[in-house]
Amino acid sequence: MARQHGQDLVGEVLAVLAGPEGRSDPYPHYERLRGLGPAALGPDGTLVATGYRVCAALLRDHRLGKTPERLLSGAGYADWLDRPSLRMMFTSMLMVNPPAHTRLRRLVSGAFTPRRVAALRPAVERRVAELCEQVAGQTDFVSTFAFPLPVAVIGEMLGVPAADRPMFQSLVRDWSMVLEVLSPLAVDQADAAAVQIRDYLDALAAQRRAHPKDDLISALVGGADDGDRLNDEELATTAALLLAAGFETTTGLLANGLLALLTYPDQARRLRERPELAQSAVDEMLRYDSPAQMVVSRGAAADLHVADLTLVPGQRIIALVGAANRDPEMFSEPDRLRLDRTEAAPLSFGGGIHYCLGAPLAHLEAEIAFPALLSRFTHLDLAGTPVRRDGSVLRGCSALPVTAQWGCDRERACGTVSARARFGRRLLRRAALQLPVSQHDTYQQAEQSRSGIICTDDAGGLLRCSAQSDLREHVLRDGREPPAVL
Ligand code: HEM
Repeated sequence: MARQHGQDLVGEVLAVLAGPEGRSDPYPHYERLRGLGPAALGPDGTLVATGYRVCAALLRDHRLGKTPERLLSGAGYADWLDRPSLRMMFTSMLMVNPPAHTRLRRLVSGAFTPRRVAALRPAVERRVAELCEQVAGQTDFVSTFAFPLPVAVIGEMLGVPAADRPMFQSLVRDWSMVLEVLSPLAVDQADAAAVQIRDYLDALAAQRRAHPKDDLISALVGGADDGDRLNDEELATTAALLLAAGFETTTGLLANGLLALLTYPDQARRLRERPELAQSAVDEMLRYDSPAQMVVSRGAAADLHVADLTLVPGQRIIALVGAANRDPEMFSEPDRLRLDRTEAAPLSFGGGIHYCLGAPLAHLEAEIAFPALLSRFTHLDLAGTPVRRDGSVLRGCSALPVTAQWGCDRERACGTVSARARFGRRLLRRAALQLPVSQHDTYQQAEQSRSGIICTDDAGGLLRCSAQSDLREHVLRDGREPPAVL
């Protein structure tokens, strides 16, 4: 009787999660499941895990493999290899098992090592500073920042020209819907998008074959040092996965993260004052409202025991990482955003052999973006109701209206370090010369990245400078002469 009740509840909650109520706020529904224990069975035998330890064990267990055939045949697509969207998604690295997975991942992993990603920092900083300018005033944060930043970064890496990038927003959304919904309409729409993406990437690969450049498509065309090389279809599939994975989820991180900061102004203030918290802050944003809420498509080939559970072949397994990230056994006050949390790594990037290849890149983008936005804008507020994107696997916003302003109540005229008030700049430079070396460097960086703020009075005298947090609180009341000691 209790078992039947539990299975009915799991079925009911999964149905709610797939609808508008679950999209708007899935977390109370996860709590209903948690009441059944760290994992529970649905009416059709699907195992749904909400506990952190169980989810981590399921993700990391190498005996569990990806089972796309079973999923797709079960959904009525025995012919899935003839459907462009299903073929491109479910033969990609994300959905295959070793040894095919090992080979595909090895051919691209060199571009995503922490060292290679760290080298992208200056370019990401420049892009962030440019995009901050687009956010000023009242805008939709998704279209002005959260989408353009990751698409520019992965587009640049792959070698997709800037003018071509915007079209991928809707194409990737339609194609990646096959991870969520397998209705005839959704798959037809995904097929159309997949064909366009594949044709585009085929043509780009052909261009790079003829005229190689310093980008990832050219490197993939060239192959590995040991002579291994992707065939044409593998190349388009891999590039499409990188493009899609490169921005769809990172757009979610930037939008969900900003929304979380707007919900917790004390935490936003904290990060503004201490940008060095950015790394743990991004982990906490990933935990608090994960851009990937569930990881699916794994199954057992034979009866298997994992984390006190018995799995049987053919059983569907859903690791609800969005719920695991709020497991009270791992996190104190799990429903609160606390940017200095150090309890456990979020499961938002998955685990095991499919652990997100782009995790260092997504982290870098967010670590640069949030301190820059907070430093650039002293006032960031919601300007309307956020619109959640469709789907229950990925979580993000399709629109996030915000107002972003700089300056404070007392100042009359405000501007960026690079853009305004020559007098103020000169003064700021002279003031900066008297600063300890680290703060002086901070000022230089702020000026280079155009992210600092200065506020001047009517006569152009400097009232306040906000060249990153170190200088933020220095109020230079006498605009004409910098004080000897700041
Ligand atoms: C906040 C941003 C991101 C999140 C939350 C995220 C999440 C994930 C998750 C959960 C998986 C594992 C899926 C599974 O096990 O079935 C994954 C895999 C993957 N991600 Fe990400 N991702 C993000 C950003 C990126 C970026 C920027 C890239 C860049 C190219 C990327 C590329 C990939 C690839 C290629 C895989 C497949 C790896 C494999 O199967 O071996 N991701 N991601």
